[in-house]
Amino acid sequence: MIIANTIDDVRKKVREWKTSGFTVGLVPTMGALHEGHASLISAAVGGCDRVVASVFVNPTQFSAGEDLDSYPRDFERDCRILEKKGCDMVFHPSVEEMYPEGFGTYINLETEMTKQLCGKSRPGHFRGVCTVVSKLFNIVGPDRAYFGEKDAQQLAVIRRMVKDMNFNIQIVGCPTVRESDGLAKSSRNMYLNYEEREAATVLYRSIEAAKALIRDGSCMLSSKVVALMTDIISSEPAARVDYIQAVDGMTLLPKESLEKGDLVAMAVYIGKTRLIDNFTIGG
Ligand code: PAJ
Repeated sequence: MIIANTIDDVRKKVREWKTSGFTVGLVPTMGALHEGHASLISAAVGGCDRVVASVFVNPTQFSAGEDLDSYPRDFERDCRILEKKGCDMVFHPSVEEMYPEGFGTYINLETEMTKQLCGKSRPGHFRGVCTVVSKLFNIVGPDRAYFGEKDAQQLAVIRRMVKDMNFNIQIVGCPTVRESDGLAKSSRNMYLNYEEREAATVLYRSIEAAKALIRDGSCMLSSKVVALMTDIISSEPAARVDYIQAVDGMTLLPKESLEKGDLVAMAVYIGKTRLIDNFTIGG
């Protein structure tokens, strides 16, 4: 596996691959890789001739007081995982390589989409995500790029950005990989102590209960679904709801009555750690 630290090195290699007629897949990550990330690499390996992963903790998507400095970093371990999964090149730039002095152009999706859900509690977050992802798209020039459904709002925002900015890239969404007790795999799960890790299962328990309520057909009112999930999460002393919201799966606008394709998403603090999860109706 090639380790590239500069934009030039990535471009040179991708140019060679394209000259040979290979398709290229991109998997953007912030490292601290787990099986969720690994599943995206596997999907990319299955769908493209060559696969590039990026490992870059992107400062512009963190706001002051968030966990930029403490975000887990272990590049050697990440490389071992990527190589084992069949990744061909990892792009691991410095902050200066991505944001040199004088940097000042940002991609900002300005519709309601980025004002709902995580956009409400993390202002500026999606501006940072869109900026870095569009830079990665321009640097790598992939045919396809792979993103997890775990970050459902991020996936919807990137799909919108690709449409709006005419990126000639197919966006592939991949299902959420979970622990055996249902907790969605996340680099931030490392922050949880033993008791918090137990408490964190409440997110998935609330999803299962909501799905059951919807499945038996008795209720498609989002207020009832959200109320049930809020009750379950509030029964866990270590948990504090940031938001639980039902929205249209594409536009992310709030929905009163749920139908197939709608998204129910949440962010919940377990102690000091903010976890997110979601499910799609009929998904
Ligand atoms: P990061 O949190 O490292 O996630 C990288 C990719 O892995 C995202 O597409 C995310 O949705 C996916 N992912 C994370 N946990 C997953 C799980 N349990 N199952 C399936 N996929 C999962 O998301 C980011 O980084 C950044 O915002 C980034 C897009 C790299 C821009 O900086």
